[in-house]
Amino acid sequence: MPKPIDTRPILALETSCDETAVALYGAAGLLAHTLHSQIKLHAEYGGVVPELASRDHVTRVLPLIRTVLTEAELKPADLGGIAYTAGPGLIGALMVGAAAAAGLAAALDLPLISIHHMEGHLLAPMLEDPAPGFPFVALLVSGGHTLLVEVLGIGRYTLLGESLDDAVGEAFDKTAKLLGLPYPGGPELARLAQQGVPGRFKLPRPMTDRPGLDFSFSGLKTAVLTALPRDADAQTKADLARSFEEAVTETLAIKCARALDVTGHRTLVVAGGVGANVRLRERLHALAAQRKGQVFFPRKEFCTDNAAMIAYAGWMRRSEGRPAFEGFPTRARWPLVELSAPAAT
Ligand code: KG4
Ligand code: ZN
Repeated sequence: MPKPIDTRPILALETSCDETAVALYGAAGLLAHTLHSQIKLHAEYGGVVPELASRDHVTRVLPLIRTVLTEAELKPADLGGIAYTAGPGLIGALMVGAAAAAGLAAALDLPLISIHHMEGHLLAPMLEDPAPGFPFVALLVSGGHTLLVEVLGIGRYTLLGESLDDAVGEAFDKTAKLLGLPYPGGPELARLAQQGVPGRFKLPRPMTDRPGLDFSFSGLKTAVLTALPRDADAQTKADLARSFEEAVTETLAIKCARALDVTGHRTLVVAGGVGANVRLRERLHALAAQRKGQVFFPRKEFCTDNAAMIAYAGWMRRSEGRPAFEGFPTRARWPLVELSAPAAT
């Protein structure tokens, strides 16, 4: 006899970096989500301090769980599973979410579901209406990853290309630092670029002049450093920010077009923190229109780290839940392509 389908909601925890996020996903879709950002905590250090991140997650996670349960008018006894981000990410930060999830799963006798952070990002556009249909090409652009992936279904991922050095978010953050902008640099640089004159600085479009789908962004950051006059005024910095953003978005668009050509797919899905960048969104919408294809993005708050994406991935992978007492794996490094399709329920 087939097992009855469990429709009880999944509670999800995301603590891989500097956001403590909690969400609930059920048969009716996303039921609640909330997040505490540690931006203020890390700002004075100019970047995330791993030990401070872990300690802050410890104090935030349980109150946030109470918040989502109250918002969705649910009790712990109504839940059907606990999902958490198992990696990749900062190992101490991951351990906090993993320990909290495992503790809850053990206490409530619920399955514990380990989720890959980048699969969460990859599936975030599924929370929108309309959601993309399989197959598609995904561009994953975050602080730690720049990946082009062919997606045939959940867990059916083929790596098409990746960054050989800095991730694109990292390049945004490092370039922002060069321009004297505060942490977190990506959104600050994008804001400054709005005041910049387009095309003033000629920056390279790295690795677009040769075949292939890999990226390299560290040279672009060096090109900005070389072009930056010692006594640069505010307008020059804004112009340079604009030229940097243009170079990045153009490079990403060229590689996305190439990936669509190689695979023959017509749908492009963009996810990860840099997916919040307005100019990138405009550029890829133009690309899709030109090719009579479609491009899908998550709403901006689900481009950056959040637990809604982990809850959705947990919902789709609930069949992989295991008893909490079997331990709670965390992995600082974890290639996305090691995942496989969820087992049938
Ligand atoms: O996905 P995410 O929140 O965390 C990781 O998993 O890494 O991505 C964070 C990255 C940071 O590098 C941040 O600077 C970048 O995304 N980012 C942006 C924008 N918003 C966030 N980069 C450019 N433009 C933005 N608007
Ligand atoms: Zn992320």
